[in-house]
Amino acid sequence: MCGIIGYIGDKKAAPILMDALKRLEYRGYDSAGISTINKNNILVEKDIGKLEEIKEKREKEKNINFEKIEGNVGISHCRWATHGSVTKENAHPHTDCKNMISIVHNGIIENFSALKEKLIQKGHKFKSSTDTEVIAHLIEDNYNGDIEEATRKALKQIEGSYALGIICSKEPNKLIAARNESPLILGLGDKENFIASDVHAILKYTNKVVYLENNEIATLEKNNYSVKNVNGKIINKKINEINWSPELAEKSGYEHFMLKEIHEQPRAITETLNNRIENGNINLKEELDLNDEELKKINRIIIVACGTSWHAALAGEFMLEELAKIPVEVEYGSEFRYRNPIINENTLIIAISQSGETADTLAAIREAKKRNAKVLSIVNVKGSSIDRESDSVLYTYAGPEIGVASTKAFTAQLVVLYLFTLFMGNLKKSLKKEKITDLIEKLRKLPLQMESLLSEENDIKKIADIYKDKTNSLFLGRGVNFPIALEGALKLKEVSYLHAEGYPAAEMKHGPIALIDKNMPVVFIATKDDYTYKKVLGNIHEVKARNGIVIAIATEGDEEVGKLADYVVYIPKTLYILSSILTAIPLQLLAYYVAVDRNLDPDKPRNLSKSVVVE
Ligand code: G6P
Repeated sequence: MCGIIGYIGDKKAAPILMDALKRLEYRGYDSAGISTINKNNILVEKDIGKLEEIKEKREKEKNINFEKIEGNVGISHCRWATHGSVTKENAHPHTDCKNMISIVHNGIIENFSALKEKLIQKGHKFKSSTDTEVIAHLIEDNYNGDIEEATRKALKQIEGSYALGIICSKEPNKLIAARNESPLILGLGDKENFIASDVHAILKYTNKVVYLENNEIATLEKNNYSVKNVNGKIINKKINEINWSPELAEKSGYEHFMLKEIHEQPRAITETLNNRIENGNINLKEELDLNDEELKKINRIIIVACGTSWHAALAGEFMLEELAKIPVEVEYGSEFRYRNPIINENTLIIAISQSGETADTLAAIREAKKRNAKVLSIVNVKGSSIDRESDSVLYTYAGPEIGVASTKAFTAQLVVLYLFTLFMGNLKKSLKKEKITDLIEKLRKLPLQMESLLSEENDIKKIADIYKDKTNSLFLGRGVNFPIALEGALKLKEVSYLHAEGYPAAEMKHGPIALIDKNMPVVFIATKDDYTYKKVLGNIHEVKARNGIVIAIATEGDEEVGKLADYVVYIPKTLYILSSILTAIPLQLLAYYVAVDRNLDPDKPRNLSKSVVVE
């Protein structure tokens, strides 16, 4: 989705707005813009392209640089187009007829056509085809010397989702923010205040934040701020201190965030395990806002999620059924609320989301709560909407994830699902104490095993070369590694734009086998287990017999696969159920290096957004 930054303070706004915007670019990179107030005039600069491209283009043309624009108050925006194509006119900020009001917006105004028609009849002139511009004119239409009041009046007429940053040339000491369904936070500094779509964008400047709730409007001045509801009633807000370090949101010498985040996985897993293992058992009691009695009664779990988190959910289904013996179903967030899910007081809904803002997952949670289900969420971003709306939350401590393609958050989600599985297995007595001790021991080894796996990176780089002239790929896995096959295919699609499909290996013979020829790389997750390993070997033979190229992810020491496959990446020995946490890593690296080989930017894949806050 789009990203928003706003600043008001003593300093020059533009360099801060652009610096913070860079850290939000994963939310949208079709176009970008900035607006400030200088000597009671609204200044606007915007263009299409990624921030770096815009900067280069402007420097070449000796045109004004975004960072040089004057003023101590301003707003900036990076766009992921919804209404209106990618053009300079449609880029934000948008202004009213008198160039008095400038706004940036994230979300969708559902009744914009009707509002636009009315405003045109009143004589308003529109410059873009966005839904957002309607808000600027609507505020202008309601303006009577008080920008906060005009915003309130305008918002009462608006239907849809929005996070808004607004400035007005007549009131240069104010920055207005408003939220409904799209995330927006206030950052409180020393003689300066901020607004931002995401907390890590402003961590460099302050770690004190206030989360805006739906239908709240904030007025920020240099030294103070207030939050009111749409009727003007003051709301007292809690100030939260964030303990993520600002360095976590930088590239730290890596070429891309995606690569940095792949390498951060041992740390992310260590932090996710921290304080959750106690005396040979899993302790989640203090974190879970559900008591033992409520948890013991659970006899069915429905996991809702989207994208990569949905793949984690599928692996979670396997873990919970295999070890905790609880029946599980997995649903796409987007589908769940449009069915008639059967839920009773013993059903637990687990929502998985890195951002905690995905609109489809959030809608699924609300639907579940309407049906009186208890919702437990697995979330990476504290203070996000899903975090706040769930009955109970287990955090993944992956730190800020900036690369659009999720990597470290995914393996951290798998670890939390595993912890919850062991916790429930113990509570429901479906797992014996000795078994739990063994499972925990193997779990603890994961961060070190991940490190040794990451040191094999160069082998994967070489394998990526074979994709240079390829257009398709298959990813096959079974059992707990079937979701990893899906995730491997998704990663490749997302960042390299190659067509890839994930399948359970045995399903290959029911269709995908027709695609195999000498141009088809087939990635097999062929780790050793007591269940399907031999069958997967059979599938590898079938691909070889049809001249396909076999890339195998195998268990260290497995010579049989080594002889059969064209390329092999070995993962350290672990329990079958935990193998998925390791097999995911070579597939992430493969997707990354294929993208880099094709001169693509894996951090900003076309058409995608890190956090999809529209349904
Ligand atoms: C978008 C992102 C994906 C992510 C999905 C779900 O599509 O591009 O990487 O997996 O949203 O996001 P969530 O934040 O809910 O995990």
